Amino acid sequence: MTIYHLSTECYPIAKVGGLADVVGALPKYQNKIEGVDAKVVMPWYNKPFIYEHNFEVVFDGFIHQGQNMLQVQVIKEKTDVLGFELYMVKIPGLLDRENPYGYQDENFQFLAFQHGVLHWLTAMQIRPDVLHCHDYHTGLVPFMVEHCPEFSFLKGVKTIGTIHNGEYQGMMQWDMIQYMPAFDHYKWGLLDWNGFINPLACMIKCSHAFTTVSEGYLEELFISFKGLESLVREEFSKAYGIINGIDNDVWNPETDSMLDYNYSIKNVLKIKKKNKEKLCKEYDLNPDLPLFAFIGRFATEKGADLLPDVVWRSIKQTYGALNIIILGSGNAYIENKLQELNYVYANFASDIGYKEYLSHKIYASADFLLMPSRVEPCGLNQMYAMRYGTVPVVSYTGGLKDTVKDISTGGSGLNFTYPGVDDIIHAITRGIDIYNQQKIMNDLILSNMKFDFAWEKSAEKYINLYKK
Ligand code: ADP
Ligand code: GLC
Repeated sequence: MTIYHLSTECYPIAKVGGLADVVGALPKYQNKIEGVDAKVVMPWYNKPFIYEHNFEVVFDGFIHQGQNMLQVQVIKEKTDVLGFELYMVKIPGLLDRENPYGYQDENFQFLAFQHGVLHWLTAMQIRPDVLHCHDYHTGLVPFMVEHCPEFSFLKGVKTIGTIHNGEYQGMMQWDMIQYMPAFDHYKWGLLDWNGFINPLACMIKCSHAFTTVSEGYLEELFISFKGLESLVREEFSKAYGIINGIDNDVWNPETDSMLDYNYSIKNVLKIKKKNKEKLCKEYDLNPDLPLFAFIGRFATEKGADLLPDVVWRSIKQTYGALNIIILGSGNAYIENKLQELNYVYANFASDIGYKEYLSHKIYASADFLLMPSRVEPCGLNQMYAMRYGTVPVVSYTGGLKDTVKDISTGGSGLNFTYPGVDDIIHAITRGIDIYNQQKIMNDLILSNMKFDFAWEKSAEKYINLYKK
């Protein structure tokens, strides 16, 4: 069975968030299953994330986007360290940029990616068994495969769409239609949602099955999905919730080369502390106090707007009985606020930016990881935290609900129902209490490290779904 994963991110080539981690791991674990050949196709980026390419151009062609003729090159990664074949689509002017997102013309960018991939497969007569589309950036592929005569060679290929984040749907004005590959016009309704071309809605309508990255999130989408809830309800018979796994090869405190001191479950209680001491020294924090951390995008869905208030109020209310460290970037107002607080509180440090190595150090050093998300389709941070012996403190939503149970019910972390400052601080004070009861804290660290979030089970679930 040949599967092509189509995605804008893939670790370690391009990463903005969890999508990259998933697409960089899922195919690798699928390839361990007999008879499976999973590959990844992504846009070409000029600045690889933490990876040096060794590549060859395997295809050169042209597509039309409206009046414009675009050159399409497909570049294959030659090294085989990734665990899957990787292809990158390069289109000068659109798919040869530094970052995946943040450009004014992203509609053209993603349309060109989808068109380019299907053009290449058609021209080379490559007919996969499954095209697995990730998020709205590839959401028009299931439609194009079925309804664009240009790709009639691919008609009938099974398509799966995975919703990693339903907050982003890629809506476009209808005038973008002239830049799509030609299609049977009476099918336009499949592209439409509320008067816009909506790639995510189109993916739900046109794919043979669609998945969300946790069961909890799927349940939530039936009730609230930025206007698409009635559509998911209508299409529920082809909806599946499959929880993400984590790549235990990359996220392993015993071998992680980004850590100052490696450790395993056998010596975590001794060595984790050394990582914490080193980090606290670097950021001028007090290693004797519990260390709470946040790592992530400064977006409202992550509850990042609450962080400045959580910082000052928790420090005041506990009379400085904790440290907080925050690593992240995004909303400029939040970035500035958190930077200001660096000068106000000795117990607080923020580091603004995207720093892969620092995230690993923080998972290994912190006692608690805060995730006050309002929306969390799966969330990987809480699973990385647990693997590194760190206790997750999370809101009760989406994938967090599925992966972190409260310690009061025998679980692995702390839950709060409502992501508001009061509830978060209440959870933090519970955390401080636990930290001060060494036996309970140590047991929690040890049991968290034993949790099995390996990809194997979910990789298999996807394969069974493809077969179905
Ligand atoms: P999302 O994809 O919604 O951002 P996830 O929890 O699925 O959330 O995944 C986030 C991933 O991005 C994790 O690997 C996390 O460690 C990483 N990450 C987020 N922000 C940063 C940052 N500022 N520096 C380093 N890593 C980050
Ligand atoms: C999205 C979601 C996150 C999920 C990730 C990987 O970015 O916001 O919750 O873990 O995709 O599926």
